[in-house]
Amino acid sequence: MCGIIGYIGHRQAREVILNGLKRLEYRGYDSAGIAVIQDGLGLYKKRGKVHDLELLIQDLELNATSGIGHTRWATHGVPSDVNAHPHTDSQSSFALIHNGIIENYDVLREDLEKKGHTFHSETDTEVLAHLIEEIQKMGSLGFYEAVQQALLQVDGTYGIAVVHEEYPDQIIVARMGSPLLIGIGEDEFFVASDASPIVGYTQKVVYLEDEEIAVITRDGYEVSTLKNVPHTKEVHELALSLEQIEKGGFPHFMLKEIFEQGDTISDCMRGRVILNENRIQLGGLDGYVDKLLKARRIIIAACGTSWHAGLVGEYLFEYLAHIPVEVEYASEFRYREQLIDENDVMIVISQSGETADTLAALREAKKRGALVIGICNVVGSTIARETHAGVYTHAGPEIGVASTKAFTAQVTVLAMMALLLGKENRTLSEESMKELLSELDSIPEKVNEILKDTSEIERIASLFTYAPNFLYLGRSYNFPVALEGALKLKEISYIHAEGYPAAEMKHGPIALIDEHMPVVVIAATDHTNEKIVSNIEEVNARKGRVISITSNGQSSVNRLAEFSVTIPETHDCLTPLLTSIPLQLLSYYIAVNRKCDVDQPRNLAKSVTVE
Ligand code: M6R
Repeated sequence: MCGIIGYIGHRQAREVILNGLKRLEYRGYDSAGIAVIQDGLGLYKKRGKVHDLELLIQDLELNATSGIGHTRWATHGVPSDVNAHPHTDSQSSFALIHNGIIENYDVLREDLEKKGHTFHSETDTEVLAHLIEEIQKMGSLGFYEAVQQALLQVDGTYGIAVVHEEYPDQIIVARMGSPLLIGIGEDEFFVASDASPIVGYTQKVVYLEDEEIAVITRDGYEVSTLKNVPHTKEVHELALSLEQIEKGGFPHFMLKEIFEQGDTISDCMRGRVILNENRIQLGGLDGYVDKLLKARRIIIAACGTSWHAGLVGEYLFEYLAHIPVEVEYASEFRYREQLIDENDVMIVISQSGETADTLAALREAKKRGALVIGICNVVGSTIARETHAGVYTHAGPEIGVASTKAFTAQVTVLAMMALLLGKENRTLSEESMKELLSELDSIPEKVNEILKDTSEIERIASLFTYAPNFLYLGRSYNFPVALEGALKLKEISYIHAEGYPAAEMKHGPIALIDEHMPVVVIAATDHTNEKIVSNIEEVNARKGRVISITSNGQSSVNRLAEFSVTIPETHDCLTPLLTSIPLQLLSYYIAVNRKCDVDQPRNLAKSVTVE
């Protein structure tokens, strides 16, 4: 989604902002823009990549030391130069960038048009700029007060940054539902929608909360509520390094992140899987385990890949801890009849910790008295801060839009939680706990074994690069992996793909099978193996092209499938941590063969901060 970077200090603002915009590219965008204050307001914006904006301004003599920049992901109005941010007032005396959606923009726009304002773009953001102008004009207010008043009149979500030519030494920022942080350097300050554009300049940040507004000058920053109550903010230290957000020799972030998974799963388990004491230690859940055990049910709410991880979690919690679980799309949960109360526990899963629908589900559950636990990757994100308790996945920054290492880290956290609860609930014997902990501990090594030789997956990818459709089948723990495999392929290669529980194939999808249909069958769990073998026979009988993902021992599957990718054996309930890896690679190589933009697929955003 849209990204924000702002700078005020002693450096050339153009460099800091362009650099920041490049680091924000991973969020997904369609246009970019920059505004600097140098003998008045300089405003440059362009549809396309940040590189196109860079070309637009490369020959200009810009000497400004403050300014703002934005990457736009279209919601209101097509991607175009004119709809790109920043937007200005009628006189072009100030420029504003905005993440989020002004929901009452149409009513405001109509009113402002009646008052003589002319709009150039189709965006909701331009309405906010004109509203500020109008309020300032009518109320003889200072600029800061006018911004404050305007924000009190808008419904919806925003993270904004504003610069004004008459106040070259300040940036005004405010937040409601859309993340924003202030970076604190030596005699310089930054504002950003996430930490990635400011890493390398400073590690010190303050996170703005909803309804907070701040004025940043060259000497410092002041934060207050929209109603003028001053707030003292805690300064946090970022745990993010420059290295982590660079490609490290890989052609794409996605491939780097796939190959990191041996390490990220290890990092996720570090200090948590205590083998010699036969237990799991999750500090973030201290004081909440009892509530989880006594829960009438656990509701897992998430979106996209995180929802798929939640589905694996459902199998794990039910099998290992005998706790009933429901998995909900966060976007659906919030509009259902709310039957959740203090007897339930909600677990929200989110890589970014900023997904608008997941955040809304969390707030709804909290309002109704449920305990809410978060599984997030981004430290300090809104979801991580708003949940009662939680477990970080510690997978490091995930830049590729297609989620890979975050998924396996989420499943690892869910497995650890289920084991912890299973032990406490006595649904797991000491013996089974020991066996499962040692299996979990060996997963990173097995992931690395899969990654050691990717040649068979590359070969299969080259044979099916131009297939128009794919079917993914899996049972039990690997049904969610089938969904995830299909999502990965759709996202980055734009091939239509569907995931199904294998037995459901007979209830409809089998009609699609002919000699042109690749069917990826995930056949790695022993207890469903026989059934999966029958499913493969059914596909073969209709001349479908079976690509199986099996563990070493499953010779009957390997014999029947036209193509087989073998993975090391593990306990059934941990197989998703291994079976998901070849599927990530398959989609990656197909997308590369099709010359798709792997890290920034069309229309997609890394973190979906609008509803
Ligand atoms: O940051 P979140 O985990 O909350 O994001 C949820 C989805 O938007 C995300 O998983 C999306 O489906 C990914 N692009 C999948 O690769």
